[in-house]
Amino acid sequence: MSEPVARAVAILKRGGLVAFPTETVYGLGADAASDAAVARIYRVKGRPAGHPVIVHIDAAAKLGDWALEVSDSARILAARFWPGPLTLILKKAPRVAGVATGGQDTVGLRVPDHPVALSLLRSFGGGVAAPSANRFGRVSPTTAEHVRQDLGGDVDFILDGGPCSIGVESTIVDFSSGDPVILRPGGLTKERLEEALGCSVPVKGVGLVRVSGQLESHYAPRAMVLIAPPADSGRMADDLRSKGKRVALLGDKDVAAPLLYASLRRADESGVDVIVVPLPEEEGLGLAVADRLRKAAGKR
Ligand code: TXA
Ligand code: MG
Repeated sequence: MSEPVARAVAILKRGGLVAFPTETVYGLGADAASDAAVARIYRVKGRPAGHPVIVHIDAAAKLGDWALEVSDSARILAARFWPGPLTLILKKAPRVAGVATGGQDTVGLRVPDHPVALSLLRSFGGGVAAPSANRFGRVSPTTAEHVRQDLGGDVDFILDGGPCSIGVESTIVDFSSGDPVILRPGGLTKERLEEALGCSVPVKGVGLVRVSGQLESHYAPRAMVLIAPPADSGRMADDLRSKGKRVALLGDKDVAAPLLYASLRRADESGVDVIVVPLPEEEGLGLAVADRLRKAAGKR
């Protein structure tokens, strides 16, 4: 265990908050078994209490310790894609703290694919509840510096593992009411999920289950975000500039998953009024990017 990981483990054990890198985005972690520690995550994020957080564990083999009634399909996905950018929603085992699940009888579980995160989880031994390490509703952090800028002194320690390789959050697959449903497209593509299960897996719209990423506005920079129809973005930006707006025009490369959030943050820092973004093809990781851009552009 490295010295920073040892320090992070000690902080988690005394109920503190540790930001840590994953392959998707940085998480704001607390001991999942401690209601008081998890409650602090909500306070720091400014997150409404009804929104459950993902519990991170260190191995697919431990799924049975955290969830009940795990179906064969859920086991197949865990065995095949963990560690990786996949969160499974399952019936919770009694040991899961009520605060982490937002009072629901289900739990979101994930094994992150990042050496620092895995070292932290193995050394800590328990589950680490962690939402993305940003203030509620804002752009997720993909570097330790983003976390520092967003949360500063409100987090006890930040583990720096460099920039996140995937750059968008995990794909959330809900098994709690039988057949799998994608609640949030993410780093594991729908195509790969369907190939592993041998059936189609629908993407669910707003439903009964409370998923914060399904509010109309989420993942939002301060500037207004405008989605441009293909080939129209340059003209749209010029129009806005001629009306006196300060505009950032992002290209296809800027909104590729690994750069997406950093690009939105950079545009914001440059002080523009409007960020014009192109919508990618909705296949592969483009499905998750398009979802985030729509939410970033959503009604405030
Ligand atoms: O990639 C990720 O998933 C990152 C890293 C840190 O692991 N985490 C992340 O957490 O994106 P967060 O809290 O920003 O988003 C988790 C989403 C929320 O929309 C939450 O409502 C949903 O997962 N969620 C968690 N537990 C759930 C449950 N039991 N039922 C339904 N949705 C759940
Ligand atoms: Mg988030």
